[in-house]
Amino acid sequence: MAKMDEITSLAKRRGFIFPSSEIYGGLKGFWDYGPLGVELKNNIKRLWWKSMVYERDDVVGLDASIIMNPKVWEASGHTEAFTDPLVECKVCHIRIRADNNQEIENHEKSHKATVEWTKPKTFNLLTEVYLGTTEPKLKAYLRGEITQGVFVNFKNILDSSRQRIPFGIAQIGKAFRNEITPGNFTYRSREFEQMELEYFVAPDEKESLETFEYWKEQRLKWYVSLGMDKKKLRFREHAPDERAHYAKSAEDIEYEAPFGWSEFEGIHHRGEWDLGRHKLSYKDEEAGKEYTPWVIETSGGVDRSTLFILIDAYHSEKDRVILKLHPKLAPYKAAVFPLLANKPDLVTKAKTIYLRLKLRLATVWDDRGNIGKRYFAQDEIGTPWCVTVDFDTLKDDAVTVRDRDTTKQERVAVDNLEEYFQNKIKG
Ligand code: GAP
Repeated sequence: MAKMDEITSLAKRRGFIFPSSEIYGGLKGFWDYGPLGVELKNNIKRLWWKSMVYERDDVVGLDASIIMNPKVWEASGHTEAFTDPLVECKVCHIRIRADNNQEIENHEKSHKATVEWTKPKTFNLLTEVYLGTTEPKLKAYLRGEITQGVFVNFKNILDSSRQRIPFGIAQIGKAFRNEITPGNFTYRSREFEQMELEYFVAPDEKESLETFEYWKEQRLKWYVSLGMDKKKLRFREHAPDERAHYAKSAEDIEYEAPFGWSEFEGIHHRGEWDLGRHKLSYKDEEAGKEYTPWVIETSGGVDRSTLFILIDAYHSEKDRVILKLHPKLAPYKAAVFPLLANKPDLVTKAKTIYLRLKLRLATVWDDRGNIGKRYFAQDEIGTPWCVTVDFDTLKDDAVTVRDRDTTKQERVAVDNLEEYFQNKIKG
């Protein structure tokens, strides 16, 4: 299994993920996605949207604002209950999550004297912002989950679309939590992205449990369809005392990360909690009934998925690092190069092929160093195919395509290249 320092080093070196504002020393819990990271993350989000919205008739999308009327957070229970327990070291005043035994143990080792801790206090994770020009400014919050934007738009969506229960609202966007101890690279950040579905059903135990099971399976299947190793994925049910304040029941999808099994998506039965708290209901015209719908939620972390997909794809062989990303996720699908960078005929032909392919597929040009070094560089960023233009190309209009995972090479006609790649990406 990849070690975390191998992942962080690759992420930085090849432009996937950088510490935020690094030239000023960075800021704990904040990260920037570089040229390749943004492509990988966008591919994950695009595929999620495709499977959750475009391929379904019962789900519509939403993009709600990050800052909302603070009353939203009072009604949703977050100002009161969105908390973690915190303890403070009485020697140096560092604060740590009271349930983070590993962190507490590490900290105790850093002191020669015996460490005394304060009693656990609750710490609210909502990030405050102050708005307006006149004092006192309005205290609002950066959203702690993207979810509430969906509930407060429930009526707008019912009134403006033809959706009727059961149906879902999908959303992708940033959320913010003032985490006590951010860590494990991007795993626990203070700013992160979520991709969520809120699926509304009638208030019925049987139907809601079937919907819960249905979405659990769908979500696991989706991660497997992205090439993640099934053996490293599992469900874990929350014990009653670890459930969020809104959840009737909850199960996590976990990945076996280098730092242990870790949650990266939650399937939550939110019951009538949210719509009830916002005093929203649904009129079933056919049945002549009005009720508060129940909600089954799938809440995935874009950053955690990106991190676990990187870890899962990381392979090293002798002196070669290969990122075995599914072609659907790879930042570049193909790299095109001339066999020799100092032969104008080869360069011109290769450039023509590159420019043509680039209009259809994420393609990159590479003419640095020798061919071996180019393969090595492309393997490391997960490019599934390298296309080499050689002297034969000038005669037969065909190129050599080399496969990242098998290193096998195949001769393909230039005119068939796009179709060749599209078929492989689909397959
Ligand atoms: N709307 C429900 C909700 O927000 P959650 O279990 O608190 O549920 C859902 O969060 C997902 O959001 C998590 O499974 C994780 O992938 C992501 N997430 C939560 N906190 C995070 C953090 N501090 N850093 C990165 N991702 C986080």
